[in-house]
Amino acid sequence: MAKVLVVYHTQTGNTEKLALAVKEGMESSGIDVILKKASEANLEDLLSSDGYCFGTPDYFSYMAGALKDFFDRTCYPSEGKIINRPYVCFVSHGGGGKAVGSLETMAKRFKLKKITEPLLVEGKPKKEDLQKAKELGKKLAKAIMKR
Ligand SMILES: Cc1cc2nc3c(=O)[nH]c(=O)nc-3n(C[C@H](O)[C@H](O)[C@H](O)COP(=O)(O)O)c2cc1C
Repeated sequence: MAKVLVVYHTQTGNTEKLALAVKEGMESSGIDVILKKASEANLEDLLSSDGYCFGTPDYFSYMAGALKDFFDRTCYPSEGKIINRPYVCFVSHGGGGKAVGSLETMAKRFKLKKITEPLLVEGKPKKEDLQKAKELGKKLAKAIMKR
């Protein structure tokens, strides 16, 4: 079964709610999902997955340090091994959302394939935001199934 790594950071739960909704969307499409906080995710999780979803709160217009740390730990050791694997991403923010730029830059550095535009959600996710997150998961699942 195809596998996706959903890796995220959260302090107050907003990003986690979105991550769980993405997971739900993918599982309803028959994808095996590994959901991990960035501080607990490792190189093996990255290498053994067929696609990725990155989620972060916006911290000072950048991704959370914990997610950056995950990328720092895995970028060179995974070099050349995950090229063109599909990804999606989302940002939980308080009215800004510029952190999305740092996520996309990192995904380019890993040479991943962007499946759709990032999802940006302000504050506590509402029902429609969770639905959008679910759709994000479904889009990634569809792209993986096609490969
Ligand atoms: C240290 C810190 C820095 C933040 N910086 C920004 C920012 O630059 N722009 C923004 O829109 N929100 C900013 N926020 C708000 C968070 O991105 C927002 O509350 C988010 O929903 C938190 O996600 P979480 O509930 O998953 O922890 C910041 C919050 C914290 C704690």
